[in-house]
Amino acid sequence: PETITVQELANRMSERAVDVVRLLMKQGQMIKITDVIESDTAQLIAEEMGHTVRRVAESDVEEGLFAKSDDEAVQVARPPVVTIMGHVDHGKTSLLDAIRQTNVVSGEAGGITQHIGAYQVSAPSGDKVTFIDTPGHAAFTAMRARGAKVTDIVILVVAADDGVMPQTVEAIAHAKAAEVPIIVAINKIDKPDAKPERVRTELLQHDIVVESLGGDTIEVEVSAKQKLNLDKLLEMINLQAEILDLKAAVNTAAEGIVIEAKLDKGRGPVATVLIQRGTLHQGDIVVAGSQWGKVRALNSDLGQPVTDAGPSAPVEVLGFGGTPEAGDRVAVVESEARAREITAYRERLRREKQAARSTGARGSLEQMMS
Ligand code: GTP
Ligand code: MG
Repeated sequence: PETITVQELANRMSERAVDVVRLLMKQGQMIKITDVIESDTAQLIAEEMGHTVRRVAESDVEEGLFAKSDDEAVQVARPPVVTIMGHVDHGKTSLLDAIRQTNVVSGEAGGITQHIGAYQVSAPSGDKVTFIDTPGHAAFTAMRARGAKVTDIVILVVAADDGVMPQTVEAIAHAKAAEVPIIVAINKIDKPDAKPERVRTELLQHDIVVESLGGDTIEVEVSAKQKLNLDKLLEMINLQAEILDLKAAVNTAAEGIVIEAKLDKGRGPVATVLIQRGTLHQGDIVVAGSQWGKVRALNSDLGQPVTDAGPSAPVEVLGFGGTPEAGDRVAVVESEARAREITAYRERLRREKQAARSTGARGSLEQMMS
C-alpha cells in the first residue's frame, strides 16, 4: 500500500507536523513525525484538518512535466551547446581556456579537469556558443545513459603530435551513438613534431572523413597555446549550428539539465544547470531529480548575479533543498505543493527500487545457500 511520512503529509498540507501527530494520538495511534502512515489514514487526517484530498495516480505525477507542446510558444534561435572531447592531455581545457581568454587550466589541481565547467562565449560575429568541458567521457556517457541530450556539437580535439588515441576513438563512438555532429580540432600544430596529415588519415580508419579529404566532417587546425585559428573554429561551430537550425521556446517555464552540483558550505546546494528551453527566473519553483527548491539566486558562468536565464545558457542555481545529481532533469513547476508531490513520488520510486534490489539480492543468496 501507498505510504507517506507524517512530516511529508504535514508539508503538503502546510500544517505543523506536531498537529498531525496530536490528531493521530487522539485516534489512538502512537506515531512519531518520521513514521510512515498509510495513504488511507493520511486521507482521513487531511480531511479532518479541513483539506481537500486529491489522490494522484502514479502516472499523473510526472505527466506534463516535460515535453510540453510548443505549439503556442514562440521559437527562437538558440546558441549551440558544444562539448569538447578527446584523449587525455590533447588540450581540451587549454583550447576552451584560450577561447575564453581566461585561465582555467592553472586553477586546476595538476591541470586535470576536476569537474564539468559550462561557459558561454561570444564569437567575433556576436553569436554565442555554450561550451561544456568534461572530465573525460564519463559524465557525457552517464547523462546520455539517462536519456539526456545535452550537446548539439562535439569538438573532437586530437593533438597533432600524438594522433588518434584510445579516448579519441571512444569519443568518436559516443558522438556517433548520440548522433551528434563532430568538428575535428587538430590541436598543437605549433609543435615541431606536429603531423596534422597523419591525424586526418588515422581518422579515416574510424569513418571520419574530413573535408580536405573529400568528406563532410569539418576540421580546423588550431593551437591552443599560440591561439591560432580559434576564431575560425568558432566560425565553423556557428556554421554547423546554422545547419542544425537550433531553436527553443523562450517564453515558457524553463527546462534544463543539471551539469554539476555540489554542496557549498556557505551557499548550500549549488547546481550548474544548462537551460534547454524556456526561461528560468529568480523565485521560480524548480524540481531536479528528487530535489526541489525556490530559486534564491542565479549566477552566470562568469559568477555574476542574473535575474533570469534563457535557452542554452549555463547558470548556477541556488535554493535547492538538497543537492541534485549531474544529469538530473530540471523543470519549473507551478507550486511548492506540486514540487513536493513530484519529488516525494520520485523518492518513493527510488526507495522501492532499492528495496526490490536488496530483496533480490537476498533471494539469490538464499538460492545459493540451499
Ligand atoms: P585532461 O583534462 O587531463 O584530459 O587534459 P586536456 O585535454 O584538458 O589537456 P590540457 O588542456 O590540460 O593540456 C595538456 C597539456 O598540453 C598542457 O601541458 C598544455 O599546456 C599542453 N597544450 C595544450 N594545447 C597545446 C597547444 O596548442 N600547443 C602546445 N605546444 N601545447 C599545448
Ligand atoms: Mg582538461
